[in-house]
Amino acid sequence: MNIFDRWKKVYESLNLIEINERNLLNNYDFFDNLGKEQIWPVLKSNAYGHGIRQIAEILLKRDFEYFVVDGYQEVLEIRKITKRPVLMIGTILPSNFSKIKWKNLAIMIQDKRTLIALGKLNKHIKVHLKVNTGMNRQGIEIVDLRSLIGEIKKYPKLELEGVFSHLAGVNDSEQIKRFEEVIKIVENNGIEIKFFHLAATSGVGKIKNKKINAVRLGIGLYGIGKGLKPVLKLKSKITKVREIEKGKKVSYGGTFVATKKTVVGVIPVGYFEGLDRRLSNKGFVKYKNKFYPIVGRVCMNMAIVNFGKVRPKLYDEVEVISNNSKDKNSIEKMAEICETIPYDLLVEINSSIRRTIV
Ligand SMILES: Cc1ncc(COP(=O)(O)O)c(C=O)c1O
Repeated sequence: MNIFDRWKKVYESLNLIEINERNLLNNYDFFDNLGKEQIWPVLKSNAYGHGIRQIAEILLKRDFEYFVVDGYQEVLEIRKITKRPVLMIGTILPSNFSKIKWKNLAIMIQDKRTLIALGKLNKHIKVHLKVNTGMNRQGIEIVDLRSLIGEIKKYPKLELEGVFSHLAGVNDSEQIKRFEEVIKIVENNGIEIKFFHLAATSGVGKIKNKKINAVRLGIGLYGIGKGLKPVLKLKSKITKVREIEKGKKVSYGGTFVATKKTVVGVIPVGYFEGLDRRLSNKGFVKYKNKFYPIVGRVCMNMAIVNFGKVRPKLYDEVEVISNNSKDKNSIEKMAEICETIPYDLLVEINSSIRRTIV
């Protein structure tokens, strides 16, 4: 253990993220019980800001084929705690293929050039072929499917284990129809595919075809959505308390002006830590079960809260992000205030903040 790791063990941090194990497993089980498809947790972007190692560790209690990530860095994080299989759905530069440990790993492929580079390694590698069914982002065109499958067959050590696509959330039924066409083409090529997967969270329940047997579950797993339980809570401590007179300005640019004498407190959470700057003069934090507004501009590592007549003590705890979706400081409510989506705010949460599983 190096000096920094040792320091981390004894150092008490001001900010702390609590990952609620029961909520995470409840969310997983909710989706798992809806149908026969396997639920594959999506752990990219530091498990949607939650902490990839903590989330992977909890999910070891469930049985499924793949953790889903974007790139190899995330695989290495997961490898610190488990050897269980991981599927990478992002693009990996072929120049890195020879450096990758391919055991218990599957890779997304969407073009011939990358496929040939992979085949030339002459190693047993599991491949999931991505097909464009209408989102026009990743994936090969349906018309190119036969030729690409022909190319894969030239490399007997490559195992075409999966074929997949992704829904854009506008013309899902058309995309599902196109994907069913894809299944037929693949099967007519005499290849047996273990996994066809199409849905992410919002697609769950829309797909009736029994051949489509896995779901890549992201946002729902983390409890964002009706009836689900948010998994993440961010707590902090007040690092400065002061009373200001009527007319005094707060933070950069003085965008908040006190209309009466009031108590303000500083929390050591700013936009670096993941408190979005759009919450300046708009967001809330929870202190002793009441909500208090963020006033003035959110700074890089700090924000200021208006406590009114209440006078908190130095180092009192505040809840910056609540795991109750109804709260004014839940990720869902914050996203409404910022006119963005919960994904955006979650992935902003800095990976350097300490995580603990509760
Ligand atoms: C290809 C792919 N599959 C699955 C997911 C998970 O989506 P969601 O978080 O909406 O469940 C994503 C999210 O970005 C994705 O890009």
